[in-house]
Amino acid sequence: MAFAVYVFDAYGTVFDVHAAVRRHAAALGPDAQRLSDLWRQKQLEYSWVRTLAGTYKSFWHLTEDALDTAFAAYPSADRSLRDTLLDAYRTLDCYPEVPHVLKDLKADGARLAILSNGSPRMLDQAVRAAGLESVIDDVLSVDEIRIYKPDPRVYEIATTRYRVFPNAISFQSSNRWDVAGASRFGFRTVWINRAGAVDEYPDMAPAAVLKDLKGLTSLS
Ligand code: LAC
Repeated sequence: MAFAVYVFDAYGTVFDVHAAVRRHAAALGPDAQRLSDLWRQKQLEYSWVRTLAGTYKSFWHLTEDALDTAFAAYPSADRSLRDTLLDAYRTLDCYPEVPHVLKDLKADGARLAILSNGSPRMLDQAVRAAGLESVIDDVLSVDEIRIYKPDPRVYEIATTRYRVFPNAISFQSSNRWDVAGASRFGFRTVWINRAGAVDEYPDMAPAAVLKDLKGLTSLS
């Protein structure tokens, strides 16, 4: 086994952030995908702005605020689905390969954690809904320090928890900006480039790039 500790980003890496809208796409109409994209984009923007402005609000509340903005931007989408979409966001699907890969890593003796912007309750609900509670050892949330990624103090939550140097942790994220922060912090980083996005932040590069989590077990 290459690493004793594997730390995963949650949203977009383990959980499919577009699953909530996809479940109700027909009822939402032609702007469903655009609504989902803007929902995610604004959720992240609010996390960065609030960290810089020093006005923390929980990720769950940012998720609500971002959905409200997305509904305002796409009036064709039926706003009465707001609570239905938020309920669906609590129980997002995980990507298909996730359970298998996590079980393999765990069978090799690795410790597995999530390190996420998500509020503790929403993370617990998502982990349970995806049936991952027996493989994920620890769910670490930024909520304990009220600062969002990619502030280095977020990644430090993991090194403090496991009492290891950053390079003893393999960190996986589908978010290139999160990988940038984690690389800068000193984790061994793996960019899970699910969307086939162009590379960014050349001075904060990942150690490896995979298109999904399969292949993680064979990286050394
Ligand atoms: C998270 C966001 C970045 O789970 O997706 O931390």
